[in-house]
Amino acid sequence: MQVWDPDRYAAHARFVSDLGAPVVELLDPRPGERVLDVGCGDGALTEKLLEAGCRVVAIDASEAQVRAARRRGLDARVADVTALDFEGEFDAAFSNAVLHWIRDPDAALAAIHRALAPGGRLVAELGGHGCVASVRAAFGEVLARRGIEAERLNPWYFPTAEEYGERLAANGFDVDSIRLFPRLTPLPSDVTDWLETFAQPYLAGVPDGERPAVLIEMREQLDPVLGTPDGGWVADYVRLRFAATRRD
Ligand code: BEZ
Repeated sequence: MQVWDPDRYAAHARFVSDLGAPVVELLDPRPGERVLDVGCGDGALTEKLLEAGCRVVAIDASEAQVRAARRRGLDARVADVTALDFEGEFDAAFSNAVLHWIRDPDAALAAIHRALAPGGRLVAELGGHGCVASVRAAFGEVLARRGIEAERLNPWYFPTAEEYGERLAANGFDVDSIRLFPRLTPLPSDVTDWLETFAQPYLAGVPDGERPAVLIEMREQLDPVLGTPDGGWVADYVRLRFAATRRD
């Protein structure tokens, strides 16, 4: 299971919202628009939407992150994106680095479609096909030594542009643009901090006493691939960025 801790997030994951600026740009938020921020985290990007003059409702599944977003003065609510109860209330929906955590992407897209007014925009970025492939491969090797099949624990959905485009169309959206691209992402701290922040479902699948050894082995496995000569780390992210419009 994945648990978001706002302090850990601020220390090891601030780059997620920092690198979300181009998604806000693609949304092109306009003053007075009603915007739904799907998976707001601690609200760093929600603030940008407010600064653009939008009226924003922000939702997140994590109570701790919603509390952190509320401390910024935002209208943030705990909600499951697959079970939203908004009906035609928003001019646009925005989402950064969240939709790859959703196990039922069609339910999420259907709920967002319902929340938008006809003609409303959905602009989002998520991890795309091939994202953190080296991390997944390393978990495959390290956990196989313990008789654990890593793919069973994989919490992420990293679709191709074609697959996600088809889902958008099937859920009532016209796709205005969709693009899959690699984005090597320098990490602010050790790769083990990244693993403990973002890859908890894999670590939770290992007996408690084994976790420190798994982290050491993961670090050894990843060092030749993601380590930099100066001792830093760069993750092999792939992004899927799209803009779509509610068809009817
Ligand atoms: C992300 O938040 O973008 C992300 C999380 C886990 C794996 C890869 C990407």
